[in-house]
Amino acid sequence: RERYTGLINRYRDHLPVSENTPVISLGEGNTPLIRLQNIPRLLGKDVDIYVKYEGLNPTGSFKDRGMTMAVTKAVEAGSNAIICASTGNTSAAAAAYAARAGITAFVLIPEGKIAMGKLAQAMMYGAVIMQIRGNFDAGMQLVKEVADKAPVTIVNSVNPFRLQGQKTAAFEIVEELNRAPDFHCLPVGNAGNITAHWMGYSEYHRAGVCNSLPKMVGYQAAGSAPFLRGGPVADPETVATAIRIGNPQSWDKAWALQKESQGWFDELQDNDILAAQRLLAEKEGVFCEPASAASLGGAMRDVRSGKIPEGSTVVCTLTGNGLKDPDTAIEQCREARMVTIDAELGAVRDAILSQM
Ligand code: F0G
Repeated sequence: RERYTGLINRYRDHLPVSENTPVISLGEGNTPLIRLQNIPRLLGKDVDIYVKYEGLNPTGSFKDRGMTMAVTKAVEAGSNAIICASTGNTSAAAAAYAARAGITAFVLIPEGKIAMGKLAQAMMYGAVIMQIRGNFDAGMQLVKEVADKAPVTIVNSVNPFRLQGQKTAAFEIVEELNRAPDFHCLPVGNAGNITAHWMGYSEYHRAGVCNSLPKMVGYQAAGSAPFLRGGPVADPETVATAIRIGNPQSWDKAWALQKESQGWFDELQDNDILAAQRLLAEKEGVFCEPASAASLGGAMRDVRSGKIPEGSTVVCTLTGNGLKDPDTAIEQCREARMVTIDAELGAVRDAILSQM
């Protein structure tokens, strides 16, 4: 079998690259599609739910799929620096791929509102970090304006190569299931990823690789849900900091694909997002970050209500690794999961017996 060297080499026939394109890769893509065993039983419904564990990409999120393309094309065009605004994951991916390419990454992040793992990554990979007194939307606006005034390439999802790379997740799912799912559920911030998935499914459908298309379902955090409000949200707030976004960049594309695919948008309260994150970890052994759990939490609710009917095949994208945000995880579980005891045999035995 051929050595796996990342998604550009794997899918080069479907991507805007040539033989001479200098591929910048960290072996991203090819992530596991895990069939849930315990949660469907708990729901009492006959549904097949798979999670696409994008947290196993090289920097721990789906952003690596987009970043390998964006940085490859930036280097091909002769760029020496990239820039992005980010809630955390894009900054980690940009920093890593820039390091790999030997160019500079500038990242704008909202002060105090980024998960610790992501901040550690951007620092370690050597990005120039600008912490702004403002949110993601303010950072995004600044990045768009400065790109005209400084020699930097934007690698946010407004860069079309990002979505090209990210569409490959849909290719992998179709190949693994030998069909498209009936429903594909994702957390939505800027709506770049849901757009990219729809592009991927549509391309494979046109090419005859699959003969149906999924309904695309996007879930937002209730405090940051512009798709539910019908317009931008001025002060987005949510524990799922990755999707703390009030002014989505792929607004029109997302509405178009919602109609075309006959899917829908919905919202979840922070508590429901965290409960889904915990349930997935406790019942299936899969740890994702809070934002990612919005896909599963929403899907579970829609399966229960019958909006997603029995007999369906459902894929939920787990966009980021749970290790990205240790603080939120520990805060939720500390009391339920930890006892402090003396370092004595009797105390350990008592602790075991008390739990059985
Ligand atoms: N899940 C995670 C873990 C994310 O980091 C993001 C976006 C999304 C979902 C939403 O994806 O924006 O394509 O709809 N994170 C960006 C960032 C904004 O800066 O890391 P989307």
